[in-house]
Amino acid sequence: MNSTKENLVEIIRTRSELQARVRAWKQAGETVGFVPTMGALHGGHLSLIEKAQEKATRTIASIFVNPTQFAPGEDFDTYPRHETEDIAKLASVNCDAVYLPSVAEMYPEGSVTNVRVESLSDLLDGIYRPHFFYGVATVVARLFLHTQPDVAVFGEKDYQQLQVIRRMVRDLGFPIEIIGGETQRDADGLAQSSRNLYLSPEERRTAGAIYAAMHRARTRLALGTLPGEAMAEAEALLGKAGFRKIDYVTLVDPATLQALPVDQPLEPGTPARMLVAAWMGKTRLIDNINAGQ
Ligand code: PAF
Repeated sequence: MNSTKENLVEIIRTRSELQARVRAWKQAGETVGFVPTMGALHGGHLSLIEKAQEKATRTIASIFVNPTQFAPGEDFDTYPRHETEDIAKLASVNCDAVYLPSVAEMYPEGSVTNVRVESLSDLLDGIYRPHFFYGVATVVARLFLHTQPDVAVFGEKDYQQLQVIRRMVRDLGFPIEIIGGETQRDADGLAQSSRNLYLSPEERRTAGAIYAAMHRARTRLALGTLPGEAMAEAEALLGKAGFRKIDYVTLVDPATLQALPVDQPLEPGTPARMLVAAWMGKTRLIDNINAGQ
């Protein structure tokens, strides 16, 4: 691991350079941990790098704002791009290399091959952003082929994405261990996210209500409140706090993402994940917690 390489994170822009670097590392007996990102890095991303460093001797982050996971009218053009600051942040945690491919490098001219993880991609966020997980699975599969890591780390904040990637890796037999990294939260509980940059100061003050509502619902479930009731209470709290539209507040099986029965108390030992997607002004925020009893 590089302990003295501050400011020396290696910048790699092409697949061939990346593969040469990874090949050399592997020939020297090193292992590779990978953290794919779209940049605008925050503490959550850096914690994923640290997790990768626990699992592998070399770490690569990628920064690529992937056009195929944005629908027309979404924020592809305005998505924050902070390359210089991001590289400095990666250097500060001794990430070994950053892969910054162009669109042409990721999607060579005439490329028509996509990855669809059916079913898991069509629930929850997939209902509101039908293109989204197909774009994510496609780019992550391509990034895996470019990087050939031993281990890859994805944030639990994007819980559905993590499950889609796990399923893709299982179905296609990628020889990669997928690890979930714990969500990093600000002091008021708001999950760290690049899109928090869109919030006005007032919206930012209110946004912590998502965590408060989820936390309260988890306590209510533990006290035996029916899931339907606990979710409805959480939704009401979000509405009262100022969320203008709530896409979903739901309790699901963590592996299949299928909704759990709303009219039966959660039995002790039942695995459960509570997921929320709600709009604060023009910003769509998602979050989730382990709600199992
Ligand atoms: O979570 C993200 O930042 C993106 O969806 C990912 C996994 C880097 C794919 O573009």
